[in-house]
Amino acid sequence: MTEPQAIAPEQDIEKARRVLGQRNLVFVGLMGAGKSAIGRLVSQMLEIPFVDSDHEIERVSRMTIPELFEAYGEPEFRALEARVIKRLLKTGPRVLSTGGGAFMNEITRTMVLNNGLSVWLKADLDVLWARVSKRDSRPLLKTANPRQTLSDLLDQRYPVYARADVTVTSRDDDKEIIASETVMALARLDSGQDTVPNS
Ligand code: S3P
Repeated sequence: MTEPQAIAPEQDIEKARRVLGQRNLVFVGLMGAGKSAIGRLVSQMLEIPFVDSDHEIERVSRMTIPELFEAYGEPEFRALEARVIKRLLKTGPRVLSTGGGAFMNEITRTMVLNNGLSVWLKADLDVLWARVSKRDSRPLLKTANPRQTLSDLLDQRYPVYARADVTVTSRDDDKEIIASETVMALARLDSGQDTVPNS
């Protein structure tokens, strides 16, 4: 089988790099949206480093996300997440994929909106559920009815994720296609077809 080819034209890659400048490209969205997988591909296309805030939190705390939730609770996890993201936003350009709750925290969201360029990877409930139900690593979904919990999170969070600078639809398609669509959406910001966000 041949690998699917990236479809973003080279000139769009150039434009996307220009739009980003020295900032971080910050992926936000619900668990299972593909923030890490798509983020990693976009970082390869733009030839800039990739970092995942959850991995960084696990690295600095030497604990897994479920262990952190268990030992300290969600508020402490959010405080640590905000500190880690604040530090990561200071240097760029890079692609930063964040945990699903990060952008819901007002302090983190304000930092991301002021210092980064944000992309909401938007997916519908069936797509998200098909992906997250394969693993039981998400503390917030350890409930009696995790699909309903995910649906409730979707209702609460989508109006907030919608404040991201760019929205890209994530779905069951080749990751390369969704990554290319992200790059092309960024490129459109350069040609004035969308409002250029904070710089
Ligand atoms: C969370 C999402 C997780 C992780 C933590 C909390 C959330 O990251 O940060 O379990 O609040 O949605 P992913 O979105 O990468 O699964």
